[in-house]
Amino acid sequence: MSPDAASPEVPAGIRVHPRVGDLEATLRLALSGESLVRAKESLARRTTLRVGGWADLLVEPGHEADLACVVVEANRLGVPWRVLGRGSNVLVRDGGVRGLVIVLGRPAFAVIEAASPLLRCGAGVRLNALSAEARRLGLGGLEFLAGIPGTVGGALRMNAGAWNAMTFEKLEAVRSMGPDGSVMEQPSGAIPAAYRRCDFFRENIALGGVFRGEPCSSREVEARLDELNRRRWATQPAAPSAGCIFKNPSVIPAGRLVDELGLKGTRIGGAVVSDVHGNFIVNDGQATARDVLGLIELIRRRAREERGVELETEVEIIGE
Ligand code: EPU
Repeated sequence: MSPDAASPEVPAGIRVHPRVGDLEATLRLALSGESLVRAKESLARRTTLRVGGWADLLVEPGHEADLACVVVEANRLGVPWRVLGRGSNVLVRDGGVRGLVIVLGRPAFAVIEAASPLLRCGAGVRLNALSAEARRLGLGGLEFLAGIPGTVGGALRMNAGAWNAMTFEKLEAVRSMGPDGSVMEQPSGAIPAAYRRCDFFRENIALGGVFRGEPCSSREVEARLDELNRRRWATQPAAPSAGCIFKNPSVIPAGRLVDELGLKGTRIGGAVVSDVHGNFIVNDGQATARDVLGLIELIRRRAREERGVELETEVEIIGE
């Protein structure tokens, strides 16, 4: 299958970034055999909401040295780039992403090193793998990460949270790469993070973090995991989504507001406001990014007009 055929909803007239061919040729020569380079890669397949067009170029660097090379070469050629984790908090527009998308999906970025009560995790480690390791070692306090369908890199970028806990509260140190390819390790306290927000990672790439658990028994951790799992499945939908669409405004949780506005079940094309939780938009399998964006706008307008509340999206909306 050609890459174009994989994304039938990409509108006609999309032109790849003019320097992306040069970048691809350079990287194919410069990177080690552990790296993957793919042109016109569908991002619908790489996001949990399963919508959106392709990236002009997608690279999975084999290790940090290759990642530094990718960043330096993209900057030299003036090709815009961004990092994508598991794509669980991202909405890619149907026209796709011009330039380069970097995914830290190779094994070198998925290493967990335990020195109890500390767990050093690469950016590519899945949060449920982190929490499984914490359970194995009898480390509590990290259970909230288990049900978040993301990676450590995404959790750092967004200061991901659930059940009144946030990523940065559990971190000792953060490893990152600057836009010039240099690697830094800093105490987490040196990096400002707020509710679902860490601006440091707009410019710098999250390479990993050192998490601190609280020693207890594996059985206690397991009991808390079971309880949170039960609560999550009772309150959040299982269908493909990008998690919560809006940040919670200070006056009312976004999910309750959408519910009170009577918008649950509202559909545009294949995108539906979840019947289970009002702050989730689910894909029935046929949705396009345009459908999802249409629903987001409809909800924002109703919230503004009927309740005077300005909803801000929590998912990151990228592409054209
Ligand atoms: N509610 C309704 N109707 C709904 C949904 C919620 O009335 O359709 C009410 C609930 O009954 C509750 C309140 O709204 O009284 C808040 O709902 P919930 O407890 O489900 O939490 P939330 O604020 O909607 C937050 C995070 C979730 C996280 C959960 C659990 C945000 C935007 N959302 O949801 O995070 O999983 O708490 O801790 O902060 C995400 O970030 O993507 C995400 C899903």
